Amino acid sequence: MEFITNAPQTNANVENEGVKNYDPELARDVLAGLTQTPKSLSSKYFYDGAGSKLFQQIMELPEYYPTRTEFKILEEQQAEIAGFFGLTDFFHLVELGAGDGLKTKILLRQLLHMKADFEYVPVDISGDILKQLESSLQTELPALRTESFAGDYFKALHWLQHNKEGRKVVLFLGSNIGNFEDNGDLEFLQEIRKYLKPEDKVLVGFDLRKDPRTIRQAYDDAAGVTAAFNLNLLKRLNRELGADFNLKQFEHFTDYDPLEGVVKSYLVSKKQQTVTFSALNHRVSFAAWEAIHTENSHKYTPAQIEELGKKAGLKSEQFFTDEKHYFADVLFRVM
Ligand SMILES: C[S@@+](CC[C@H](N)C(=O)[O-])C[C@H]1O[C@@H](n2cnc3c(N)ncnc32)[C@H](O)[C@@H]1O
Repeated sequence: MEFITNAPQTNANVENEGVKNYDPELARDVLAGLTQTPKSLSSKYFYDGAGSKLFQQIMELPEYYPTRTEFKILEEQQAEIAGFFGLTDFFHLVELGAGDGLKTKILLRQLLHMKADFEYVPVDISGDILKQLESSLQTELPALRTESFAGDYFKALHWLQHNKEGRKVVLFLGSNIGNFEDNGDLEFLQEIRKYLKPEDKVLVGFDLRKDPRTIRQAYDDAAGVTAAFNLNLLKRLNRELGADFNLKQFEHFTDYDPLEGVVKSYLVSKKQQTVTFSALNHRVSFAAWEAIHTENSHKYTPAQIEELGKKAGLKSEQFFTDEKHYFADVLFRVM
């Protein structure tokens, strides 16, 4: 089996005496986010090595229903789902935001079992998690053909356009679709659509609306792992941009708005304070109880999903869901 990792992440070169080198895109986004009102940081920066490990712990939490629910959907309906991919000719199975591929491996095994002719192309912004995925695939599924891409979704789509020309099935699992701002979900599906051809397929994992308390607890677990995951973002900025965030002076806060259908997560400054970014020669002031918005997690109704697909030029062919209707993996056909 051949493994090629494309566009390796620019890792900040950090040494004890200070930041020698930093990722200019990270610096630009962080400064833009922290100098606007209200302050915000992009959730795509959660996933450094430590953040990816913390997310793996989140997926095992009793409160975090999305992973185990989607796992069960894929496990119980794998043959039917794979059948929808169209197995008579070759395809690229592209996965955006693949993470550790825990759930995807169910489909990969099924496709290999069905003797499908395909190549798996996982994409993730975290080079660390991709390396882990590659090495686990090498051991667990040695017959699989794989070529991965480390980088942002948009860079990946551009790369895919020029490097993967055949028929495509795109996976976007784990309710990553819910993490965009406002209309970002539609804009992203439209962007994916641009790079696909009629009859290509897209399988998207959507977290559905349910008891608001169940949703709220999933993002505010009793063991504090989600809080550590959110706060790790500040640790990353300390390490990679020479910032001096005192983690004890910020706290994780999250809430679910059942009207809007969105969980919003924040890091709240517990007092008036100033943070210095030594690598950037920049200081950012926080008022007492000022919040930094760090993540959205949208929850959908089936009607919203159909409508979203239609507006993006994707026809929903099948909803694969669980008995409680907590989660849906929706198979779209490109129109
Ligand atoms: C919530 S996790 C889900 C992982 C996996 N899809 C699953 O269902 O278990 C999100 C994953 O998407 C990646 N990710 C987040 N934002 C990204 C971006 N803008 N571009 C590429 N990957 C991104 C993260 O590194 C992480 O591995």
